Amino acid sequence: MARSKVTIVGAGNVGATCAHWIANRELADVVLIDIQEGVAAGKALDLMEASPVMNFDLSITGGGDYALTADSDVVVITAGVPRKKDPNTGQFPSRDDLVRTNQKIVGEVAKEVVKHSPNSILVIVSNPLDAMCHVALQESGFPSQRVIGQAGALDTARYKAFIAMELGVSVRDIHGIVLGGHGDQMVPLPRHTSVAGIPVTELMEKDKLDAIIQRTRKGGGEIVGLVGVSAWYAPAAGTVEMVEAIIRDQKRVIPSAVYLQGQYGYNGLYVGVPAILGANGVERVIEMELNDEEKRMLQISADAVQSVVGVLGYA
Ligand code: NAI
Ligand code: 2OP
Repeated sequence: MARSKVTIVGAGNVGATCAHWIANRELADVVLIDIQEGVAAGKALDLMEASPVMNFDLSITGGGDYALTADSDVVVITAGVPRKKDPNTGQFPSRDDLVRTNQKIVGEVAKEVVKHSPNSILVIVSNPLDAMCHVALQESGFPSQRVIGQAGALDTARYKAFIAMELGVSVRDIHGIVLGGHGDQMVPLPRHTSVAGIPVTELMEKDKLDAIIQRTRKGGGEIVGLVGVSAWYAPAAGTVEMVEAIIRDQKRVIPSAVYLQGQYGYNGLYVGVPAILGANGVERVIEMELNDEEKRMLQISADAVQSVVGVLGYA
């Protein structure tokens, strides 16, 4: 049986770490693509040179030519520019300027990708995540079940890690989910969080849980504050969890940014919801029963996504 093939566009912190973990799990042959061709080629070569020691037996290549990506099964898009100060003016770009810059990058990448891998499944990582999913959907022309955003896998991982750290229990025993857009209005769901089946609300004071929810919402900013640039280990872990579910047709239920068409009362909008991921991409959206407060919070998060999507200028 032919090995699966995963292309990662953007060989920066998140992209290269995705390649590393895909290799470690021997999920698929990997192609790294970047406008900095040498960086993509060099990181791929460095990883390949690690294989005799780490015992992964795959092809890992890189460069700037999309011909390398031909017939990929999954394409992960991490290309983009981060929000950083202009060294000349000392000013941050406006949110709208950043959205338009990454819209151009992700749009061009998506167009190149589809030329070479018309049957692939796109996993979008570039920020602002939910809006960039709209760009990839629009520019690829793919059906929406093959254009999926990574955010909920990361946000849920952070939420679970914080609960495990607070309770001093194994992360393996934490079950929970975070819905909504990838922003400060995301919606962790304590009512659906348990420790080995025991409701977390029985194990933790409300103020501690509320603090964890706030920390989860600001989880990206916490890492930027410490490191100076945004996170990559946990984002890549969340992304590779999705890639594995698709490549191995696992039917995993992973909170993912999915183009909703009526589910949860939203139409034509990417929102983070529990989705069954398998060989066909999003195989089904699971509609949870939410109470009025959870619905209200999801609406606030969806409104925030909609306001960024509005900047894209699509009809
Ligand atoms: P990075 O700056 O380390 O890497 C980005 C790479 O994209 C660079 O190597 C750059 O050369 C490349 N690139 C830029 N334009 C390109 C183009 N037109 N074609 C090909 N490559 C191009 O950034 P990092 O930390 O890897 O983050 C990547 C993106 O992922 C950012 O937008 C970041 O905000 C986002 N992100 C999203 C997360 C999520 O949960 N959805 C979590 C963490 C980061
Ligand atoms: C994160 O949540 C910046 O989206 C990135 O770490």
